[in-house]
Amino acid sequence: MYINFWYPVARSEDVTAQAPFRVELLGLRFVAFRTSDGKAHVMSDVCVHRGGSLGKGWVRDDTVVCPYHGWRFNHEGRCTHIPTLPDESPPPRAKIDSYPVQEKYGIVFAFMGDLPEAERPPLHTIEEFDQPGWRANRLTVFEVPAFYERSMENGLDPSHNEFVHPAQGSPNINANLRKRPLDVEEVPWGSRFLVRFENKETEMATKALADERTLVHEVTAGSGHVGPNQMITWIRFSPTNMFHQYFFEAPIDDSRTRVFFVNMRTFLLDPQHDDRIGKVNLVVAQEDIDILAELDPVLTPDSNTKEVLVPSDRAVVVYRDWLKKFDAKGWRIDFDQLKARKGKAAFAIPSPARRNSGNWVLETVPLLPPGA
Ligand code: FES
Ligand SMILES: [Fe+2]
Repeated sequence: MYINFWYPVARSEDVTAQAPFRVELLGLRFVAFRTSDGKAHVMSDVCVHRGGSLGKGWVRDDTVVCPYHGWRFNHEGRCTHIPTLPDESPPPRAKIDSYPVQEKYGIVFAFMGDLPEAERPPLHTIEEFDQPGWRANRLTVFEVPAFYERSMENGLDPSHNEFVHPAQGSPNINANLRKRPLDVEEVPWGSRFLVRFENKETEMATKALADERTLVHEVTAGSGHVGPNQMITWIRFSPTNMFHQYFFEAPIDDSRTRVFFVNMRTFLLDPQHDDRIGKVNLVVAQEDIDILAELDPVLTPDSNTKEVLVPSDRAVVVYRDWLKKFDAKGWRIDFDQLKARKGKAAFAIPSPARRNSGNWVLETVPLLPPGA
């Protein structure tokens, strides 16, 4: 788990100007709310007075009010009012971390780190969103009882489909390509691959091809990742009929992941098909979840020698190489230490404001030294 990346925090409709929305992410708690200008905000959940949970409070006059003694915090995280000191400005230390936010695709994303804007890794853009010829299913959010790296690696793995999803539109990897290492291409902050699959006449493939009346025996599909937690899957049933699937993954802690899933398609564009396609997608997701929930160890091993990796695992190896690059930047959360000290100290992911000012009450989340 890393600081300094964009994470999906909540569905847009869960973030309101009426009540704070509390969410668990990266082993910590956060609060999201909206100001009256409609903008969404994400802040640390811990009130620096005496540890109240702001997410259990309420929203008044564009501030989040702590339910314990009524201290108010504005969207920048600054305390603006202390009921027992009504005539005084709150002390400078009465502030909490507030994070940069982007709202897109019906999702509120927060940048969980302190990097200045120009240095931040990107939130992946869905180019075809709202473009003619494409339709997005309603946003799907589901929880996976597994470590998010395991979930990401599952998406970067073309050799599990025929075993985990035999009935759900999952073609077999082309026999000639099985033994070759996947051709993995580097992209900014990540990597991707495309591979040829032998098509099967599954229900979804048949529906996808219905208007073309040609069964394509070989299809192209592949996956990629941007940063540690954004995954894209491309499935082409034919040259023109395809799914582009976007998985924005939020590690809740080291054994649970919340996935925000946007499915884009170029066929069956009528909204009446949304439900059925959404259901098929969820069946496929559940098939993966059933496998991921049982993996041992729960965490990705700290060395590739603890598993027997083969050429078809190439994209997983490249993903792990990227994680090492993020480790080298000193961005990995020391989750063992965080767990060991849980309950004894409250922590915050450092926000950009920490770069410019001191005097923060909460400790910065423990980070592993670069390259540890
Ligand atoms: S703990 Fe939040 S106001 Fe006292
Ligand atoms: Fe799968």
